Amino acid sequence: MKRVAVIGAGAMGSGIGQVAAMAGHEVILFDAFPNAVTKARDAILLSLNKLAEKGKITDQEAKAVFGRMYFVDQLQSIEGSDLVIEAIVEIEEEKKKLFALIEPLLSETAVLASNTSSLSITGLANGLKNPERFIGIHFFNPPVMMKLVEIIPALQTSDEVTGNVMKEITSWGKTTVLAKDTPGFIVNRIARPFYGEALRIAEEQIATPAMIDAAVKGLGGFKMGPFELMDFIGNDINEAVTRSVWTAMHFDSRYRPSQMQVNLVKAGWLGRKTGRGYYDYKAPVETSSEPLTDEHKFIFNRILIMLINEAADALYYGIASREDIDMAMTLGVNYPKGLLQWADETGIQECVRRMDMLYFQYHEERYRCSMMLRKMAETKKTFYG
Ligand SMILES: NC(=O)c1ccc[n+]([C@@H]2O[C@H](COP(=O)([O-])OP(=O)(O)OC[C@H]3O[C@@H](n4cnc5c(N)ncnc54)[C@H](O)[C@@H]3O)[C@@H](O)[C@H]2O)c1
Repeated sequence: MKRVAVIGAGAMGSGIGQVAAMAGHEVILFDAFPNAVTKARDAILLSLNKLAEKGKITDQEAKAVFGRMYFVDQLQSIEGSDLVIEAIVEIEEEKKKLFALIEPLLSETAVLASNTSSLSITGLANGLKNPERFIGIHFFNPPVMMKLVEIIPALQTSDEVTGNVMKEITSWGKTTVLAKDTPGFIVNRIARPFYGEALRIAEEQIATPAMIDAAVKGLGGFKMGPFELMDFIGNDINEAVTRSVWTAMHFDSRYRPSQMQVNLVKAGWLGRKTGRGYYDYKAPVETSSEPLTDEHKFIFNRILIMLINEAADALYYGIASREDIDMAMTLGVNYPKGLLQWADETGIQECVRRMDMLYFQYHEERYRCSMMLRKMAETKKTFYG
């Protein structure tokens, strides 16, 4: 049994702590704010009781898991932990200040990790005494339910640490994918066009959010349309992720934030949590029952090809393997199918044709076809062939 410390007992930290305790580890959950510690303790107890009620674990297991968790507001208590996962506020200086306090409490062999969504793992490792044992372990929200975990070694991380962490997190019942330390890692990068292209189509007044959502769900088999999903995530959060990827990608127009979404954020129309976003949740939300037409097909194909292009480009730049890219999108954001598999089914030459058509129409960098697709079309290769 290992001793795992989780720093920051918010939405992610409390979930990650629970996952580690459910995998049999002793967990120390620390937060600088005593109120957050109490809140996390109550939330975890409630979650374990719910799992027991549903028959997912026994009452005894729920008690044993809770008994393995220690809720603390003194950082000193994490001394001697084998693995420390940081999940505090997304501010680089705060995280770095914290790491400087944590490092002296750890043995040489302990692993230090961050759950950051948007900061560079390599940048966070810089300045540590032992940067080779630092790594990104990126859980998805909520950590107890979501199977996927992205593992992101920094430039400085040793191969041994990466291998051990992959094995460790897999033993917690999660599916791990290995990602290069680049903005958005796998999921938050490849998913950008799902929102961005949908917003662009709405901004161009080609279709309404309801029509776009109907197309994506009806023709693509996605559980939620882009606008429903942005309202669910929160437009403030979704816009911030887009902006962070766009900034870190040196303002590449493929990731440019949408003025339509910025305006919603300015209005405080953040989505479900404020009662209004693209849809008004104070009234019963009307879903489109119109039959799907060629217009829907055009809309869905445009969003899908931008997603496929992004996934192909991620493979081209070695962000992750073919299998990990497809796994990440199906498990991390519940896509009905892996995008590279979808590319094969669409036909690689057809994918290139659709991208070139968009580029021809708009003459914008945003619509450039990935070199991966172009090379594969030339050599008549497929992703899984
Ligand atoms: N929310 C998500 O969907 C999500 C998904 C994946 C990764 N993440 C990442 O996980 C991290 C945490 O996100 P969250 O949504 O749980 O945030 P949160 O605001 O719910 O929780 C953060 C917690 O950290 C505590 N904290 C702040 N500064 C601290 C410090 N110096 N020392 C100790 N505790 C401190 C706060 O009291 C709070 O309880 C961020 O890096 C975020 O990018 C979030």
